[in-house]
Amino acid sequence: MTANPTATANPTTGADAPAAPGVSLSGFKPTGHLHLGNLLGAIAPMVRAHRRTDSVVFLADLHAMTVRHDPGALRAFTMEQATTMLAAGLDPDRATFYVQSQVPAHAELHYLLECATGYGEAHRMIQFREKSATQRHVRLSLLTYPVLMAADILLHDARDVPVGEDQRQHLELTREIATRFNGSYGETFVVPRAVHPEVAARVMDLADPTAKMGKTTSGASGTIFLLDPPDLVRRKVARAVTDSEPTVAYDPDLRPGVANLLEILAACVGGSPAALAADHPSYGRLKAAVTEAVVGVLHPLQSRYAELSRDPGYVRRVLADGAQRAREAVEGTVFRARQAIGLLT
Ligand code: TRP
Repeated sequence: MTANPTATANPTTGADAPAAPGVSLSGFKPTGHLHLGNLLGAIAPMVRAHRRTDSVVFLADLHAMTVRHDPGALRAFTMEQATTMLAAGLDPDRATFYVQSQVPAHAELHYLLECATGYGEAHRMIQFREKSATQRHVRLSLLTYPVLMAADILLHDARDVPVGEDQRQHLELTREIATRFNGSYGETFVVPRAVHPEVAARVMDLADPTAKMGKTTSGASGTIFLLDPPDLVRRKVARAVTDSEPTVAYDPDLRPGVANLLEILAACVGGSPAALAADHPSYGRLKAAVTEAVVGVLHPLQSRYAELSRDPGYVRRVLADGAQRAREAVEGTVFRARQAIGLLT
């Protein structure tokens, strides 16, 4: 008689199955054009990761309404980002790819979690404090934003959530809400943890290399958008801030502008920024190489984008299909939460 394979062995890899169910989850807010920092820092690592793990990728359109917004622009950015992510290689057969508002369970669980979150907890969030300080009319949804984010995460029983520094506190709150809910109403949610995103590069603004690309008010001159034509990329790189040292060397602290160009180059062509500095001893050569590398990365993405844009019906079908799969995948979690908290099920 042959031995039974053990219950925990994974037949395809031979590795032990994970102790808890888990997917890798990423959310993108459709508030603007995607740029090179999004691609090299988040989208490319995510596409690589979803070849290995079960993943869920959604466009967080509900999160895009927590500050003043324009309805037409929100819809247009949602379609543009969806199309760009497909063009960047996101495979909707492997990842569950959808728009948050098309899965009503996000809003439903959001409300249930609001009933397990304190006002003080939400009010303490640094991002709320910073963003609310600059506005006259602060939307209530800005305050409850991290609770919606908790719903996004807990819905999918996500274990590892790759988030940047700016979202760490929100993830900590998510853990507290999940732990409290489980403690009060019985085991309902997987308690997630923040993992460092597999970052290919931290891309800084070309005009202000102390700020992350896309985060400044310096205008569009320091940001390379993924749909920028080659000539515009060349002009933006040509104008990138460097310094007055005579040669190129990699020193992120003292020479952030040059270091940023070297990191962009490294993320596009491989190799280490320090080694690339030696290969490109003059600013002229370095900038020419960066332009060529970035255009080389953007060219295939832009041709796929052009192709996909000719058939917006296809993109909408992909999203509708993703939303359908997501609704089915999260049904069980919402049912558990409704039942635990005392709603008639
Ligand atoms: N709040 C995130 C941001 O601003 C986007 C987001 C919404 C998200 N829900 C999420 C990220 C869930 C990770 C998990 O970037």
